[in-house]
Amino acid sequence: MTEQDFILNKYLNSLESGSFTWSSPSNIALVKYWGKKKNQIPANPSISFTLDACKTTTKLAYSKKENKNDFSFDVYLDGAKKDDFKPKIETFFKRVEQYLPFLRDYHFKIETSNTFPHSSGIASSASGMSALALCLMSIEKQLNSEITDVFFNQKASFLARLGSGSACRSIEGDLIVWGKHKEITGSSDLFGVKYPFKVHDNFKNYQDTILLVDKGEKQVSSTVGHDLMHNHPFAEQRFAQAHENLSKLINIFREGDLKSFIEIIESEALTLHGMMMTSMPYFILMKPNTLEIINKIWNFRQETGLHICFTLDAGANVHILYPESEAKAIYEFISSELVVYCQNGHYICDRIGFGAKQLPI
Ligand code: PMV
Repeated sequence: MTEQDFILNKYLNSLESGSFTWSSPSNIALVKYWGKKKNQIPANPSISFTLDACKTTTKLAYSKKENKNDFSFDVYLDGAKKDDFKPKIETFFKRVEQYLPFLRDYHFKIETSNTFPHSSGIASSASGMSALALCLMSIEKQLNSEITDVFFNQKASFLARLGSGSACRSIEGDLIVWGKHKEITGSSDLFGVKYPFKVHDNFKNYQDTILLVDKGEKQVSSTVGHDLMHNHPFAEQRFAQAHENLSKLINIFREGDLKSFIEIIESEALTLHGMMMTSMPYFILMKPNTLEIINKIWNFRQETGLHICFTLDAGANVHILYPESEAKAIYEFISSELVVYCQNGHYICDRIGFGAKQLPI
């Protein structure tokens, strides 16, 4: 597929007004995307677990308008008008306009809500942008009923990517690859694809307990962070390492090798933050409690031999990953030893999920 393949040259039907609602999950990267080229093309491939409980529900209402000069839309979060969301959506509309020529024909009302608090430090851009992209695809499918399910999902992922890179991994589940990788059939820089090979039962219903260490606004946005990978002294080695780690994961997933899985996942998290600490300007997103939690996890793993590990996204919060078969003991450890490090004791129990869903309302 190329970018051109996502431009439909005709719409068969016309539409006056209506609405579509989608609920779309967040995802957590195992091999991280950090650094990008023009047009939201990733500098290296990444792979993620789609989440289940952390999601955004978006209702997109559309009505035909006369004046086709500008985009016209209003945004609501939990029922309250959110004009400060508008610039990000305007940028998204500009980026996707050439692929969705109907965008200027309608006024849109975008009503969105998250299952996790907006101020939890959990980025809502992956779930939010994927939910919006799916709503837009539902309109396009109504305009052209010949669209297949495969094209629908690929284009939703392609559009979501233009809103926020990692959002392209939130359309489907349970393991999604984004970015061209020589050993992964069908992988593409343009959209996320389902991981195509065998995955051992050890990874079924894998758990992710998210410890909310710092709910504040990030000091450095991921856009700035990605940009700092240009001219970064370790960039080329890092991009090569991501390819290698993804290659190693193929065998690990097949064999159910939890020990090697842990090694790669934690190394990826620390490398991501290592890139932040070694860029110019440099920055640190981890907090003292992030490190307290990591050390506690390492000690507990050493003592018990249980397969608990952590990963981080671009912030201070810690995602604790573990197999379902060890969930009881690990959850007890988390609630008795780790929750004290969370801001106001807040954490979210999540697990692998299977992708976005259209809702009837
Ligand atoms: O999708 P963005 O531009 O917010 O970047 C996300 C980057 C990480 O979360 C740190 C890694 C990833 O692959 O999701």
